[in-house]
Amino acid sequence: MAKDTLTITDNRTGRAYEIPVENDTIRATDLRQIKVNEGDFGMMSYDPSFSNTAACKSSITFIDGEKGVLKHRGYPIEQLAERSTFLEVAYLLLYGELPKKREYEKWVHEITHHTIIHEKIKKFMDGFRYDAHPMGMLISTVAALSTFYPEAKDIFDEKSREMQIYRLIAKMPTLAAFSYRHTLGLPYVYPDNDLSYVGNFLKMLFRMTEAKYEPNPVIEKAIDVLFILHADHEQNCSANAMRSVGSSQPDPYSATAAAIAALYGPLHGGANEAVIHMLNEIGSKENVPAFIKRIKEGEFRLMGFGHRVYKAYDPRAKIIKQIAHDVFETTGKNPLLDIALELEKIALDDDYFVKRKLYPNVDFYSGLIYQSMGIPMSMFTTLFAIPRTAGWLAQWLEMLDDQELKIARPRQIYIGPKMREYIPLQER
Ligand code: CMC
Repeated sequence: MAKDTLTITDNRTGRAYEIPVENDTIRATDLRQIKVNEGDFGMMSYDPSFSNTAACKSSITFIDGEKGVLKHRGYPIEQLAERSTFLEVAYLLLYGELPKKREYEKWVHEITHHTIIHEKIKKFMDGFRYDAHPMGMLISTVAALSTFYPEAKDIFDEKSREMQIYRLIAKMPTLAAFSYRHTLGLPYVYPDNDLSYVGNFLKMLFRMTEAKYEPNPVIEKAIDVLFILHADHEQNCSANAMRSVGSSQPDPYSATAAAIAALYGPLHGGANEAVIHMLNEIGSKENVPAFIKRIKEGEFRLMGFGHRVYKAYDPRAKIIKQIAHDVFETTGKNPLLDIALELEKIALDDDYFVKRKLYPNVDFYSGLIYQSMGIPMSMFTTLFAIPRTAGWLAQWLEMLDDQELKIARPRQIYIGPKMREYIPLQER
């Protein structure tokens, strides 16, 4: 009869070991019993980029990378993008269920009423140079928030946790918008409780001297959907940073700052900015084949393409492509779109990309949309960080309640010198 175990034979010793299998997975620590002799440390598994290592059990987000499926708490991303709102999805990620009407109203009220930031944070922002990158400012100011809310350290106090969640989700748009205004030398625009989460963000970014700022409804809706698409993506680099840092049990602001730092890199959330740099460098449709050739020769990567998990078209990219058309009807077409479409067409037909299953990811078209809305490139990754905060916090909450919670502490394979005698400086 079939058993839920794995038998491993160690050919070094001839010994066989039977290891339990749960969810098609073995526990790495079960390998430790495999030893050549009693003094041996025991076997480990080597997986430097976590390519095949589950670091947690989670019930937040499901991805089937081969089929291009993404679901949050069981709900397909397509349905959420079409029918939900970002704040509703944030609630779903954090609490596991879609909110009932009263729950939703309270949730929106709490988020809306925690958008303002302490005046000293504004002063802190003033200290940055005029050309400071908004992501650098975001990392620092989110970390600085922890000094304003010392009770945030009580991470096992449910009330305190709840409050920091409201504050973080509410204040991210304010911090991002203020960082933008800072780079332009414009006065900060304070939050407006009469507007939606996204409408308020747009106002804080773009209001000039008009008495009443009215967000463009098409743009407001498009950003809300983009926020839904960016809200969570299971155990990616930044979620892993959130969990890893969070596992040493600091306040959530410090852990979120680490997650934002992880997102900043061009291989993760920074790719949306890198895509526009790349399209600008290509310059015109005619130059696409030569550019693809250089990619295939290994000179650089096609930004906005490829994914660790998706080996099919990223379902988020499909939805984003549609949003792009809606937005361009309002803003006018982004001239870089033709280059992007040509890149996609050639790449999807080219053996190099087909063989490696490289498809457009979430970042391929999002930058084009942001750019056509008048949002500068340096702000793109902050527009990823704002909604992803909900996902990071959901991952953090789930981790804190996990019975198996322990500080994250990977092992290493030491390959350095065995033993050396110190030689004084004069004798070296
Ligand atoms: N352009 C050209 N070749 C690529 C690309 C690309 N964008 N991505 C992967 N490859 C090649 C890579 O060179 C390798 O080829 P070979 O087998 O000949 O050495 C093969 O495909 C497998 O690549 P990998 O580096 O093992 O794949 P990975 O899972 O470690 O990397 C990735 C995933 C997203 C970092 C990578 O695809 C990449 O660098 N993409 C460009 C950056 C990007 O768009 N990032 C955004 C990711 S989606 C948003 C997010 O979640 O942050």
